[in-house]
Amino acid sequence: MCGIIGYVGKKRAAPIILECLKRLEYRGYDSAGIATINGGKLFLKKDKGFINDVILHTDLPSLPGQIGIGHTRWATHGVPSMRNAHPHTSCDEKIAVIHNGIIENYLDLKNDLLEKGHKFKSETDTEVFAHLIEENFKKKKNFESAVSDSLKKIHGAFAFVVLNADEPDKIIVARNNAPLIIGLGDGENFVASDIPAFLSETRRAVILENGEYAVIAKESAVVKEIKSSRVVKKQIQNIKWSAEAAEKGGYEYFALKEINEIPRATEDTLAALPEIEKIAHKVKKFMRNPRFRYPQTKFAVKKIIFVAAGTSYHAALIGKYLFENLCKIQCEAVLASEFSWSLANIVDKNTLIIAISQSGETADTLLALEDAKLRGAKVLAISNVIGSSITREADFNVHTNAGPEIAVIATKTFVTQLIVLYALAFYLAGKNPAPLKKIPALQAKTLSLITNIIKETAEKIKSAKDIYFLGRGISYPLILEGALKLKEISYIHAEGMPAGELKHGTLSLIEENVPVIFSLTPESHEKTISNMQEVKARSGFIIAITNEKDTSVKEHANIAIKVPEVENPLMYPLLQILPLQLLAYYTTVARGLSPDKPRHLAKSVTVE
Ligand code: G6P
Repeated sequence: MCGIIGYVGKKRAAPIILECLKRLEYRGYDSAGIATINGGKLFLKKDKGFINDVILHTDLPSLPGQIGIGHTRWATHGVPSMRNAHPHTSCDEKIAVIHNGIIENYLDLKNDLLEKGHKFKSETDTEVFAHLIEENFKKKKNFESAVSDSLKKIHGAFAFVVLNADEPDKIIVARNNAPLIIGLGDGENFVASDIPAFLSETRRAVILENGEYAVIAKESAVVKEIKSSRVVKKQIQNIKWSAEAAEKGGYEYFALKEINEIPRATEDTLAALPEIEKIAHKVKKFMRNPRFRYPQTKFAVKKIIFVAAGTSYHAALIGKYLFENLCKIQCEAVLASEFSWSLANIVDKNTLIIAISQSGETADTLLALEDAKLRGAKVLAISNVIGSSITREADFNVHTNAGPEIAVIATKTFVTQLIVLYALAFYLAGKNPAPLKKIPALQAKTLSLITNIIKETAEKIKSAKDIYFLGRGISYPLILEGALKLKEISYIHAEGMPAGELKHGTLSLIEENVPVIFSLTPESHEKTISNMQEVKARSGFIIAITNEKDTSVKEHANIAIKVPEVENPLMYPLLQILPLQLLAYYTTVARGLSPDKPRHLAKSVTVE
């Protein structure tokens, strides 16, 4: 959802900004641009396309100066084009602005500014901010107050980074509901929408909160409140992620690297089991509060509602399955964008919301949890980004230790979300989560067993127009995730559904050689085999994902992909997700597409 970077220091800004920008390209990649200041003059280059294409067209690295800002865009207002690419400038071409978010009142502001004689060059909402600052700068001739006065007029979500050629030593940045992190270097400072952008330069970071702006020069970064301009004392965080973790490390694509990192990410998340146990105890205490006691369960809350979007929603569905089966408490899992339309009405102080979001910034999830909090609910957040908006709103936080995930598709973060949910469910049910500790080794074994058969399978399905994914019980949400992965990056239409539901409609679409992918666990085996028979009778092409002890599957499936046995059948998703992710990856590569940057998608969606 747009990548933002700013640099001020003692080196040439453009090449540094470009390197940082490339690490942010997963946030949006329909156009890119950089503005710098040199000798009191603003320089700017931008164009439509991926950053590397824009470099070829415009020679971005040649921009002069030691201060600059850069942007990689995911379009909201205005088609991807050179005109709509950021940075946007004021009429006098002295103020340059980049933005992530949406200015909700931009039309009113634009009309005012048009009346005052401003000329607009783009169709974006962002451009109004450049003109607004210009208008305010004319009055006071002070860049900081021009920005802070302008910020007070903006409604909506924003991360802004602004340059002014008349005050060429500073960058001003501001945040409301879109992430912005300041990186503190030695005689140089950075600002970015995500930490990996500047991780190779510095590990010292300050997280800007909603309602704050900062004035950043090469030796200082002063954070202030937007509404009062009062200085805010900020804590400096030491980021532990290594810079290499945000690089490709010899893999052709981040997606493949990140799938291969799953055993390590699982292990790192499990290393925090004592933390998860502590949170589980806190949650339990809240649940056991006699004021909230609910006679039907040993827990006090009436209901747990999981709220999430995209892949995290599939983790939520698995969470619901685990909590209902292990803890015997009624749960709902709802897509965050749908929450306020229905379920919100039954939320009260007896509700626990579990918000799941790898980025911690998804607008739909954030708004749902804010709504739930207003209704009195308590919120537990599961996120991969410490200090993200969702974690700050939550009453309880569990961190997934997946490390930075760069590919747009969520892979290792999904698995670590599951690990946290399994651990929480075990602890809340009073069970020992020790069996989870065997999972990393089993995942590593799975990866080494299946790669070849997955590549062969990908070749067989790469030309399909439609692919169906079926599973029962805990395999059902898993298979939804398998279908989402495949369609996100291969652009093949994929649909997941409960295996038992096939006969109620979708079976009419199964004809010769249509690929149908089944997930089987020992518990659901018999019934799922019956559903396979329904597909076989219509000459569908059956791919079964099952465990290594399943010998009967070969009678029914065209291809059987086997993962090692686990001691608790509930844990199969933690292994079976690997063939599903790899199948999406290799099918995409077999179709000649890039799995890291699927068209139209962004990793972190900070608009509703
Ligand atoms: C975007 C991403 C998905 C992700 C979803 C939710 O749509 O492309 O991969 O699952 O947002 O993101 P979150 O950060 O809240 O997990």
